[in-house]
Amino acid sequence: MKRLVDKLWDEHRLTPDEYRALLIMRDAQDIDYLMDQARTVSQLHFGRGIYLRGLIELSNVCRNDCLYCGIRRSNCHVERYTLSHDQVLACCEQGYKIGFRTFVLQGGEWGEERSRWIADLIGDIKKGWPDCAVTLSLGEHPRETYALWRDAGADRYLLRHETHHPRLYSLLHPQGMSLAQRLQCLDWLKELGFQVGTGIMVGAPFQTLGSIIEDIEYLVDFQPQMIGLGPFIPHHDTPFRRFPAGSVEMTAKLYAILRLAMPKTLIPSTTAMATLAPDGRCRGILAGANVVMPNLSPTDTRKQYSLYDNKAALGAESAQGVKILADELAAIGYHIDWSRGDSPQ
Ligand code: 5AD
Repeated sequence: MKRLVDKLWDEHRLTPDEYRALLIMRDAQDIDYLMDQARTVSQLHFGRGIYLRGLIELSNVCRNDCLYCGIRRSNCHVERYTLSHDQVLACCEQGYKIGFRTFVLQGGEWGEERSRWIADLIGDIKKGWPDCAVTLSLGEHPRETYALWRDAGADRYLLRHETHHPRLYSLLHPQGMSLAQRLQCLDWLKELGFQVGTGIMVGAPFQTLGSIIEDIEYLVDFQPQMIGLGPFIPHHDTPFRRFPAGSVEMTAKLYAILRLAMPKTLIPSTTAMATLAPDGRCRGILAGANVVMPNLSPTDTRKQYSLYDNKAALGAESAQGVKILADELAAIGYHIDWSRGDSPQ
């Protein structure tokens, strides 16, 4: 097993069978070796500093109906909200004072009639805090909309591909959505000069080891600047309510494999990791992740942005709790890096 980890370190790529061997390995010493090497690579490029991104959950209104997601259109138990322009600016103001230099605007997928509104918002954030990066996570849109947002000053875009297996993709998404369209969006974003993040849910219903290996290969080919991976967690008002959650262990293994395959990629230790295990966020960092995205949304709307059950939003998950986060990081020998944290690639 060590030989495979060393090969991945040297060559940044393995064969499908070799990836499989790493994904199924269970020996504690082998797993430790994988984690140690991933951590070392991460420290080589980023030191022991962890970048922060302030997450602003813009709206839980969504035209889409993804089967895994708590804010899907057909969930009539959700009280829908959209932050006002001024509310978003107030989040940025508060975040800037705490020290955040990246704001991530995430929300459900809207129709194009509201794209101008987003562009104006991006413009005002860039005007108010020109030293900050603006990241968008707003789903699939036509190329022109992405271009409009890029021209307005947005720097980065997060759009997980969710799975690179077309049949699995269609089991997770409503009719009318396709993997081909998702990949097209990712190509457009890259062409337009966004720093792009993509990724998957680990342990999603119907996922197989084979499909995870295809995801790794897609990620290595696509070379995103960021990789967003979190365990699947069921939401009680979705068709997937009875499926088991993914595991922190498998997600951490994937962080480590992807860190070795793509040494300079930004990898957040995601909220879903923190939700599944009290030490989930730290386990992600010890597997080579180097970003955390605390929640900067107004406290009263956080519970309405429920993509999955029991989503962590308080303590170290909240922007107001950065002291708790700093202490957690210090306990494992890391610290917050307050810089903008652009991709070194
Ligand atoms: N469990 C874990 N992650 C989820 N997401 C959506 N629903 C869930 C869930 N039930 C993730 C998707 C999406 C991101 C914003 O949140 O991967 O891309």
